[in-house]
Parts: sequence; C-alpha cells; structure tokens
Amino acid sequence: MRLSLRFIIPLFLALGAIAYAVVPLVDKLTVQWFERDLDIRATLIANTVQEPLRNAIRAGNRSSLEPFFLRLTQDERLFAVGYCPVGGGEPVATPSLPSEIRCTDLARFSGEEGHVLQSPDGPLLVSVRPVDVEGAPAGMLVLVHDLSFVARRSAETRKYLFYFFVGLGATIALITVAIAQLSWRGWVQGLRALLRGEGLVRPDSFAAPELRPIARDLRALISDLEAEHRSRDDEQLAWTPDTLRAILQSELRGQEVIVVSNREPYIHVRAGDSVELWRPASGLVTALEPIMRACSGTWIAHGSGSADRDVVDVHDRVGVPPAHPAYQLRRVWLTTEQEAGYYYGFANEGLWPLCHIAHVRPTFRTADWEQYVAVNRKFAAATIDEAKSPDPIVLVHDYHFALLPRMIQEALPAATIIAFWHIPWPNPEAFGICPWREALLDGMLGSSILGFHTRFHCNNFVDTVDRLLEARVDREMFTVSYRGNVTAVKRYPISIECPPPAELVAKGVEQCRAEVRRRHGLPADHAIGVGVDRLDYTKGIEERLRAVERLLEMHPEWAGRFTFIQIAAPTRGRIGQYQEYEARVRAMAARINDRFAAAQHSPIALLVEHHQPDEIYEYYRAADLCMVTSLHDGMNLVSKEFVASRDDERGVLILSRFTGAARELPEALIVNPYDTDECATALHLALSMPLGEQRARIRLMRGLLQDFNVYRWAGRMLIDAAAMRRRGRLLERAAAAERTRPAVRARGGGGRRR
Ligand code: G6P
Repeated sequence: MRLSLRFIIPLFLALGAIAYAVVPLVDKLTVQWFERDLDIRATLIANTVQEPLRNAIRAGNRSSLEPFFLRLTQDERLFAVGYCPVGGGEPVATPSLPSEIRCTDLARFSGEEGHVLQSPDGPLLVSVRPVDVEGAPAGMLVLVHDLSFVARRSAETRKYLFYFFVGLGATIALITVAIAQLSWRGWVQGLRALLRGEGLVRPDSFAAPELRPIARDLRALISDLEAEHRSRDDEQLAWTPDTLRAILQSELRGQEVIVVSNREPYIHVRAGDSVELWRPASGLVTALEPIMRACSGTWIAHGSGSADRDVVDVHDRVGVPPAHPAYQLRRVWLTTEQEAGYYYGFANEGLWPLCHIAHVRPTFRTADWEQYVAVNRKFAAATIDEAKSPDPIVLVHDYHFALLPRMIQEALPAATIIAFWHIPWPNPEAFGICPWREALLDGMLGSSILGFHTRFHCNNFVDTVDRLLEARVDREMFTVSYRGNVTAVKRYPISIECPPPAELVAKGVEQCRAEVRRRHGLPADHAIGVGVDRLDYTKGIEERLRAVERLLEMHPEWAGRFTFIQIAAPTRGRIGQYQEYEARVRAMAARINDRFAAAQHSPIALLVEHHQPDEIYEYYRAADLCMVTSLHDGMNLVSKEFVASRDDERGVLILSRFTGAARELPEALIVNPYDTDECATALHLALSMPLGEQRARIRLMRGLLQDFNVYRWAGRMLIDAAAMRRRGRLLERAAAAERTRPAVRARGGGGRRR
C-alpha cells in the first residue's frame, strides 16, 4: 500500500500541475473562439439588415428603425442594436444600448474583431459595421452581443476538464496499482533468485522479464566482487595470522567467531598430585588451533580430561593456550552414557566406518542415536549461550555434529554457519544404509556453507542429497536449496601452519637424527622411516608393516640397516574394533621383528603411546622417509607436517592414493596401500633416492604448503562467509521492501539471512 501511495501521490500532483496549466489555456481559447463566432455573427446580421436599413434611410423613415431593432434583439444573444448616421444626425438604438457607446467615439469599437466591454450588465461584445446607400457611406450599425453565456460555458468547460483530469488520474492509478500488484511478486521472486545466484546462470529463469537487464548488471557486480575476492585470495603473498585477523576486521567487521568440535585443543590430565597439559593427536585440532589463536573467539568442545573441571571458571571456560591465553575454551560436560552413545557409539562405530569404507562394518543402535541427538542439543544450547550477538559466525566441525547446524540456525537465524566435514563423504549407496540418513542430511543443510576437503567428497554429498531428499540441487553453483535455505557446498582442502611454529623446528635436523637414533640404540648411519597415526584401522598400519616385511624379502640388504618407527597414539580404546586392531598391529610388529631377529637391529619399533607435537617433529626431522598408507582419509595432515618439518629439503614422503593429500602432493611416492609389493618397492626407492631428487620433490611440496597453509584454508571460508553475508543483506533489503506489502508477504516463501 505504501508503495502505491508513493506512486499515486506524485501522479496526482503531476496531473494537478497539468490541469493548472491547461485549464486557463483552454478557457482562454474557448472565450476567443466564442468572441470570434459572435463577431462573424455580427457581420452576418449587418449584411442581412443592410437592405431594410437602406430602404428606411432612403425613405427618411427613421421611426421604423427602432421597432425593427427591437425585433432583432429578441434573439437572446443580441443584447442591443444601434444606428449612427454620418454627419452627426440623431442616432437610433434599442433602449438596452449601454450609455458607454456613443456615436461620437465609435472609432474605439471599430476593428476587424469586436471589442469587449465590461458593463454593469456583464461582458458585452461590441461590433461596428458600416452602412452605405447607393455606394455612399450613410452611417454605422452597432451590434452588441451578450457575452455572459460565454462565461457560463467557460465555467462549465472548466468543470468538465477538472472531472476529466480526476477521472484520468484515478484510471491511471488503478491500472498502475493492478499491474504493480501482479508483477511485484514476480519481481521480488526474481530478485531473490538473482541474489541467491540462481538467476545468474540462467537468466531465462527469472519470473519477471523486466529484471533481466538488472540481472545483467547484478551479475557483473557480483562477479566483480567475487573477482575482487579471488584476486585478493590469489594475490595474497603470505597467509599469516595477521592476514586472517585483517580479513576478520575488514570483511567481517570484527564479528565474533565461535568454533564447535568434539575434541578439545588442550586436555588437562591428572598425574598424581599435579595436572599435565596434553595436546591431542587430532588433525582437526592441529588445523584449528592456530586459527583460533589468530582470531580469538570461543571454542566449544567436550571436556574429556580428568582434570578439566579443576581449571575452568564458573562458566566452564578457561583461557588457552594456558601460558599466553589467546581465546576461550568452553568445556561441555558429558555423562558416561552420553559419551558412550554419542561419541563411541553413533559417531565412531556408526558414522566413522560408514564414511571411511575401510572394511569395518558400521554399527547403528537406536540408543546411540538418541544420545547423539541429545548431545547435539547440548552443544547447540552451549553455542547459543556463548553467542554475544544474533549473527555470529559459527564453525561447526565434523561428523560428531551433523545435527548442530540446523539446531543453531533455528535458534539464531541470522548466524552464518560454516560446517566442515573432516572425513570422507561416501557415495549415496554407501551412505544410504544409515537408518537416520535423512535427519543427518537435514541437520547439515542448516548450514550456510558446507565444506569438504576434496571435490570428490563434495560430489558425493550432492549426489546423496539428490538421491535421498526432496531438495533442489544446483550443480552449476554447487548449492542445495532445502526447506527455504540455500547451502553452498564447497571444497576447502585443510592444511597446517607452514612454515611450522618456530618451537617445533628449533632443534636442528642433525641433532634430531642423532638423538632419535641414540634413543632407539641405532647407529648414526642407520636408515629410519616413520609413521605417525592414531591407532585407527583406517590408517593402514597393518598394510604398512606388511610392506616393511616385504621390503626385507625383496631387498634383504636392508635387514639390520633400516628400522621403521611407528608412533601410534591410542584412540577410542573402548571400542572393540580398536582393541582388536591394536592387538593385531602389536602382534604383526612382533612377528616381523621375530622373523628378522637375526639382524642386528629390529626392523620395526612400535610406540603405542601419546606424543607431544615437539616430540613428533623430532621424529619427522630425524627420518629418511615418512610413510602414510591410509585406506581412506579425508586429507591426512601427517603427510603435510612431515614435508613442512623438512627445512633441510631432505627426506621422502610415501603417500596413499586414498588420502585427500595425494591430490595436493603428487611429488610424493604415491602408492596403493592394498598393493604390498608396490609399497615395498616405494620403500626401496625412497631409501635409495639421491639427495638431489629428494630436494627437488620436497621443495615443490613445501612451496605448495607455504602457499596453501591453514590460514588460507580458514581465510577462504571466512571470505566466502563475508560474501554470503553481503548477499544476505541485499536479500534482507528486498525482503524488507516486500514486507511493506502484506498480501505478497502472506504468500511469499521465507528467505533466509546468511
Ligand atoms: C579425525 C576426526 C577428528 C578427530 C580426530 C581424532 O581426524 O576427523 O574429528 O578429532 O580424528 O579423533 P578422536 O576421536 O580422538 O577425537
């Protein structure tokens, strides 16, 4: 309605202005036309009365003239008639002839057109015509017409014109309002589709054809914006904590950042009377911790350490890193049943094997699912509790929290939720065996951006949604529209800090080599390979040990000269599959060592224990090769850490083709872990590789890691989130305009701010 008024009021003003200018003009013209007509009429009357007038003059019968004139004035418009003889004789006139008209000054009334005289009787038109007898001028005939009827008609004309303009205005307004009503919805829908990016690819998809030219402009504008961001991303020389902070300040105006993950970055563990600080063996923590140090904000995670409760404040928060707090860790406490059902059960016996397809059958129990839902709710409540603004940026991590994005979005609709899935996403058939598949997908599609490490996993996810949900999948833009929300599915390959933190590479390579060899009782020239993993069946540790055994079969010259040190961090130990796996790995290492017991040094050193990051970096730097043989891995950051640690440009990486990292590090020796001979050959190749080739390969890989470090990973997500928020604001404005139209709002679908 307000929009209609905004249009109609100016319309009426414009019409009023037109009427104000046009009506007097029409009035003036009408009066002129009437005066001219009356003057022509006067000429006609003068011509008609010439003959009777001449006869009366010739006959000297002037007395007959007055009755004759009176008869003429019976015509209602002819007000008076008079005759003025030449030479000043007695004039003859009807009594109605105004006194202002005197025969002595008729000159002022002569002229081609009549003269208007304002008399007490009203406006009069005085026309004077000559009369001649036998060709000689005999006098002047004065004809006076009443002009008051002209004024009456002029008033009537003005009245009609006024009604005409009012009618015209009302008709135009009605037509306009009707057209606006009909096309507004189309415009709004078109604009919203455009802002969502749906109309950008197929302009023909607009409901309103009038929007097409705007679409072109908006397309150009958005691609400019995106190009600007792309170029900012590409031109960025060094991705550092400062770069990330600058992006947060400039692109996101210092908006608060909340991170949610199951695993916490620092674990406080009771050791006798004291409290120890542990850094968990987790790719997720490795990647996120430096980001949080750069961005501040709050990290919400499960408080799983035995001394975790002892160090938090009343709000369950503790500043970390403990030495120099840079951000808040908010701990969420879980009961034993919750941890058993949600973490060990649904997440790690269900989703973990489901997504990894590593020949361990997923187990789905309803009781586990119920705990999974309850714990997701608990974390949603903690997130809402921590949010200081209605529109925070929330980064939800991993398969523990598939339901969280939807729960947060329902409570904080203006939040920008970025969900990142750190593990692989299987194909639709594999995912389809999960009894709660639709609920999981629905939960994930509550996010604004959903990230995976590889394009392959993005494709699998989009295929799964297409197969299992009634959702609209746009493969051009890679978006999913579901329940009124649009989720962008994007590839963000995770990475690490590169160059690594100074304290991790402080000890020189030679020193690391010497210390590690001394610790394991190995001579200085002994070749060392390392593997660093959680003791998880997806990591292919059995396959790796089998490859070491095969190496010694194929190349016995390495027996006693090469030792493979496997660091295996205990993990998820309450799960039967993990207990069995650990037993198998231990047995295999023992069997192989027994087999080659004759050699002076054992081929395998298995360290099933937790190591701190500086200890792990010491092993990386001491090794001649690092072997990663995951059977399926979202990314695998061990491979990247090994490369980053080797500032001496030595060492060889052997990398499973089934890791996300294999796509980024092709200079590694890429292997199929199921092919034992290929892996053994790779080990031999690595051990014999000339230093020049080692340097060339490592240099290329280090270059890539320096360009694509973890700050860039996070920075790209934040830049995309900022762009999405900008689009969201545009959409909000369109929606606000739409809200001014109740009828349209009632029928329109709900847009969502991002
Ligand atoms: C993988 C998962 C992470 C998890 C890590 C350690 O990398 O993607 O979410 O933190 O394993 O597993 P854990 O169960 O010990 O947290």
